[in-house]
Amino acid sequence: MLFANSVSPAPAVHGVPGKETMDVKERMDWLVGEINRNDELYYVQARPAISDAQYDALFEELAALEREYPLFANPDSPTRRVSGAPQTGFAQVRHDPPMKSLDKCYAKEDLLKFDAFLDKEAPAARHYVVEPKIDGVSMSLLYSQGRLVRAATRGNGEVGDDVTRNVKTIASIPKTLPPDAPRELEVRGEVYMTREGFAALNAELDEAGKDTFMNPRNACAGSLKLLDPAQVAKRPLAMVVYNAGGKGCDGFATHSEMMKAFASWGLPVSPYSRVVDDMAGAIAAIDELGGMRHSFPFEIDGAVVKIEERSMYGSLGATAHSPRWARAYKYAPERVETKVLDIVVQVGRTGVLTPVAVLEPVEIAGSVVSRATLHNRERIAAQDIRIGDAVWLVKAGDIIPAIDGVLKEKRDASSAPFVFPDKCPVCGGEVGSDEGEVAVRCRNPLCPAQLQRRLEHFAARNALDIGSLGGRVSDVLVEKKIVRDVLDVFTLDPLELSRLDVGEGDSHRVFGKNAETLCKAAEAAKSLPLERWLFAIGIPNVGQQVAKDIAAAHARMSDLAGSEVLKEVLENDARKGRDRKILPIKVEAAKAVLAFFDSPYGKAFMERMRALGIDPEGGGASSKGGDGPLKGVSFVLTGALSRPRPEYARMIEEAGGTVQSSVSSKTRYLVAGENVGASKTAKAAKFGTEVIDEAKLKELLSSGAEKEQGDVR
Ligand code: IVH
Repeated sequence: MLFANSVSPAPAVHGVPGKETMDVKERMDWLVGEINRNDELYYVQARPAISDAQYDALFEELAALEREYPLFANPDSPTRRVSGAPQTGFAQVRHDPPMKSLDKCYAKEDLLKFDAFLDKEAPAARHYVVEPKIDGVSMSLLYSQGRLVRAATRGNGEVGDDVTRNVKTIASIPKTLPPDAPRELEVRGEVYMTREGFAALNAELDEAGKDTFMNPRNACAGSLKLLDPAQVAKRPLAMVVYNAGGKGCDGFATHSEMMKAFASWGLPVSPYSRVVDDMAGAIAAIDELGGMRHSFPFEIDGAVVKIEERSMYGSLGATAHSPRWARAYKYAPERVETKVLDIVVQVGRTGVLTPVAVLEPVEIAGSVVSRATLHNRERIAAQDIRIGDAVWLVKAGDIIPAIDGVLKEKRDASSAPFVFPDKCPVCGGEVGSDEGEVAVRCRNPLCPAQLQRRLEHFAARNALDIGSLGGRVSDVLVEKKIVRDVLDVFTLDPLELSRLDVGEGDSHRVFGKNAETLCKAAEAAKSLPLERWLFAIGIPNVGQQVAKDIAAAHARMSDLAGSEVLKEVLENDARKGRDRKILPIKVEAAKAVLAFFDSPYGKAFMERMRALGIDPEGGGASSKGGDGPLKGVSFVLTGALSRPRPEYARMIEEAGGTVQSSVSSKTRYLVAGENVGASKTAKAAKFGTEVIDEAKLKELLSSGAEKEQGDVR
């Protein structure tokens, strides 16, 4: 489907006599490793690489093999625990009883089997209750003396993270309970991000050039992991409580009674819940819920069928993984047929050519869709999507439209494979792919389509923050050739600008007073720090964090051209070094920055910056140094150090020193880590720069800095 296939090559289970047992064991070990790896990606990094269905298939296969070959079962098998590793950066909370997961099924027959199993195991009369299965992050809330005192994630089921400060920012969660609520109460439920909030957050991240989240669940998990509650408060999170915790919930005979009590205490409960007499009733409710699943503010990926009578829970008990009194039923993702009317190729900020299918509008998962990205040249070719094709449309994470297959039997005999343009569709310029990249890019840095998007990005809030310069204004400025390069922003004539018509189509709208605001913001942008400028330029692979890391290791923008530090990142990679401490950035980013400043455009850009009198300062700038013990002392860091360089750079600056990117006559110390090239030390010898090791640097840092108490941290 729509996920990068991250499953590494797997040993197969062969039926070869004698050899079989070995292969089975090997396969089981592989499954354990693969599940653990994907757990890490999903729970810890909130960056899943395979679909839920693919994950479930791995899990099911492992569980089946363990049943068949119990002797081979790994005692630490993921089937014996609830997935999810506790995070770092938060205090740990032990769950009593453990927070379990749910057994899942995808077919109604499995629900009938579950019903038959309960007939055998719990013969007393029972009802079922059906609720939406909310796709978010499981959470335990503890109230003591009527106050919310602790919120904890599920983690691995036994131990989770204390995220109280973050959860307290969620408006729908009561911070206090009325006096009739138990004095000690623990409840459990799901924190989720609203669909609307998710769409808005992604739009905002996208605009800022940051990575977007794949779906609301990831966005929710990522938000709860933020270490700053003020940031969490800005995220549109909410919660539904659906289960008892370890305290204060014993007195309820039925689940629905308990939910009523929770609601009466102000706790948020599921907006949909049906009590039914039997499994046929439960299946009817599941279908009803399925029909309305897109009308909820949260994403639901299934329904949960629970026994209504809580008195049965104790005797039914639980497996290591899940309680025996409930089952999750997962809905098949919605898939609709539509037609590809056209394939257009858009040109983005970094020149990437993105093919987009223009579709016959269809309704899917609650909205009308008329376009779907086809990602890149390879993906179209692999799927062989053609203009005129009948295709299956799905929504990734129930949100992002994507084509999931072509109905080849319906294809017109006259149709032809889509020919990916070999020139930029906007400027007609050369196109090409960078090494190891699937994206095809327009190579013309002056391409108007790129320039429009680059200009918009240049002025974005997290870049140079030129408020009145949004998408429409960027389009007009480029169209009218008032701006031919982003730096033209600094030489705009306010009068000409104020007369500009920025209306669309037949409507006219003069830019007027905004012109002045724009020019003022541009003036202010000139003194923004290097990290903002570096991000604003929009070099491929240079997002905000990378820009920050690079800026911290350089004194000013003019130092980036031919930067020794960036070259070292490449050299370290070339000798297959594992030294991520030079700079915590990827080699592609270092390459891209060096290539930019070495390109004719990059050189012209710097020339123009000089003429404009702008040279943004990075973390290594001397002006930040202040009056510390290393005042006026300049350093160059090289080789493998035990901490990331930006960290050392920051410490040196805090102590008043400066960090340069290459050795010159002004360099006092060359701090040499491991694997230092001879050329560096030779240069140091030439300029009379003293070569010191990391220990000596630490000594220098701590010598005058009493507050550091000898420890460099
Ligand atoms: S009851 C012992 N009810 O789905 C667990 N869980 O995939 C009993 N979930 O771990 C949980 N909606 O985090 C229950 N209405 C609902 C739910 C629900 C979502 C989550 C829960 C569980 C996960 C399993």
